[in-house]
Amino acid sequence: MLRTVTCGELALNNLGKEVILAGWVASRRDHGGIIFVDLRDRYGVTQVVFNPESLSPDCFQQVSSLHSEDVIQAKGKVVHRPSGTENSRIATGEIEIAASEIAILNRCPSLPFEIIEEGSVSESVRLSYRYLDLRRPGMQRNLILRHKAAVAARNFLSEQGFVEIETPLLTRSTPEGARDFLVPSRLELGKFYALPQSPQLSKQILMVAGFDRYFQLARCLRDEDLRADRQPEHTQIDLEASFVEPEDIQALVEELVNRVQQAVLDKPLDRKLFPRITYQEAIAAYGSDKPDLRIDSKIEDVTDLFAGSSFEIFRKAAAEGKRVRSLAVSQIELSNTQLKVYQEKALELGAKGLAWIKVNGAEFTSPIAKFISPEILSCLAEQNHIKQGVIFFVADEPVKASVILGIFRLQLAKEFNLISEKSLNFLWVTDFPLLKYSEEEKRLVSVHHPFTAPRPEDISFLDSEPLKVRGLAYDLVLNGTEIGGGSIRIHSSELQKKVFSVLGIPEQDFQEQFGFFLKALEYGAPPHGGLAIGFDRLIATLLGLESIREVIAFPKTQKGACLLTNAPAEIADKQLKELGLRLAIPKPT
Ligand code: AMO
Ligand code: AMP
Repeated sequence: MLRTVTCGELALNNLGKEVILAGWVASRRDHGGIIFVDLRDRYGVTQVVFNPESLSPDCFQQVSSLHSEDVIQAKGKVVHRPSGTENSRIATGEIEIAASEIAILNRCPSLPFEIIEEGSVSESVRLSYRYLDLRRPGMQRNLILRHKAAVAARNFLSEQGFVEIETPLLTRSTPEGARDFLVPSRLELGKFYALPQSPQLSKQILMVAGFDRYFQLARCLRDEDLRADRQPEHTQIDLEASFVEPEDIQALVEELVNRVQQAVLDKPLDRKLFPRITYQEAIAAYGSDKPDLRIDSKIEDVTDLFAGSSFEIFRKAAAEGKRVRSLAVSQIELSNTQLKVYQEKALELGAKGLAWIKVNGAEFTSPIAKFISPEILSCLAEQNHIKQGVIFFVADEPVKASVILGIFRLQLAKEFNLISEKSLNFLWVTDFPLLKYSEEEKRLVSVHHPFTAPRPEDISFLDSEPLKVRGLAYDLVLNGTEIGGGSIRIHSSELQKKVFSVLGIPEQDFQEQFGFFLKALEYGAPPHGGLAIGFDRLIATLLGLESIREVIAFPKTQKGACLLTNAPAEIADKQLKELGLRLAIPKPT
């Protein structure tokens, strides 16, 4: 080894010891001829003192030439720092190294940004010099905690009898709702592999193969529009088990999350059992299928209160079968000008209007208050659990009214700092509809994926009222982010074919794409189900980070580019030719 100790481990109990350290020059300070170097590695920082009296002139010359981030090896003795010069902010702050030798192992040119100071560097510069960015303490912490989380997940699942099995990256398309990344085959010209959007079909086939309990820290590749919580490649803690019901997977995942949180935050979950709400309830009460329960406000249905009021707009809406829904935000004050801004936003979102009532004890202020009796006003305040603040109203189709109020719920909570940043709020959303209508594709599509089992009691509606069919699907939500999704799967080939045809996929097409899978189901597929946790999202949310890029070593930009390697890149004509490909567009410049 080029070192005998790391830069983070020496303390007073090592006084007098001869040591060799190696690391990066975090800083060099010249104090009247004596040079102090803070030497850094991932374990910490140690102060090394170079005194010209105890070094050869040649060595001292080298120390004088040091720059930030040069890599050096220093030999010396551990000594007590002179009284008054101790640094209580670092673990090695009571000692320093009286150096006797130095070797410069490598040089570093002037830096695009400081390594120690966090923040204030543009993300594109950080990503271009990712090796320097990853040297910074914050990123080192994030990746080390990610590693600990991965170890905790592996250990827990192994203890539970799960077997880690790798599945192919070069495969056929599995529909998870995104576009596939494709890889041309050289050996079979004109044919393509798809990179897996998830190992969904592979893991189901492992269940047919009798593996019973599978897991994998799986890379998933999806060509979709990117956002702060979406990368073209992400990692899932992917798992599947046979002979299970939703509650079995949910209980297992709660303990898995507990172990991961323990590893990352050094504390167990506040509560073991996550609340469960149905998709219907989530949409009605929060306007979202991934509600952020850190915010207290809940959407209420107040249609009945207005049915008898003289506020014509809402009375009429109630009579037409629409719903009047309300959202109360306590302890806020908004001027009429601010309220106008919200009303305009509501119109942009497609609402017909946004009514409001300011509440201050028994006092109600609103242009519509004169149409509402004092009894109804106090009932509204009571139902919305509000004593002071503002109640908003939208009258519309029930889902639309809730979704619009749900958007305001999040926006107001952010604007008025109503979200307690420290709390971690997990919940299960269950009973998702199996299918939804896609305006874009003008057909029914799966809400999760086409392998999700319908609830047995709803199967009979597959033909007559497909949108009514609920799936045996469940999502795990943390602080308003969907961090996991799973379901019980279809294990009957016949039912699987039925679902494909309800999705409007012609038999010839699904046979061609999924024939291998339908056949596997015929060979004694056990009932099975599972789930996948978005590992990047889980770690980022546990650490309170805005973007999953902060927990990924080499992430892509919004445009899917890697600024470090400049991928994606052009390829040579020879490579195109070997693959039987010709560009139909001019080569990018
Ligand atoms: P799903 O598509 O819901 O399910 O993905 C599971 C979880 O992965 C995370 N996730 C992502 N994270 C970062 N970037 C992305 N582009 C991205 N896409 C998804 C989310 C999501 O909840 N095969 C099924 C799982 C199953 O049914 O077992 C699947 O992939 O946190
Ligand atoms: P108007 O009489 O059109 O000016 O509407 C009176 C108030 O009711 C305004 O504040 C509108 O924004 C509001 N409003 C109108 N239609 C709706 C609706 N469908 N839902 C909620 N508020 C509405």
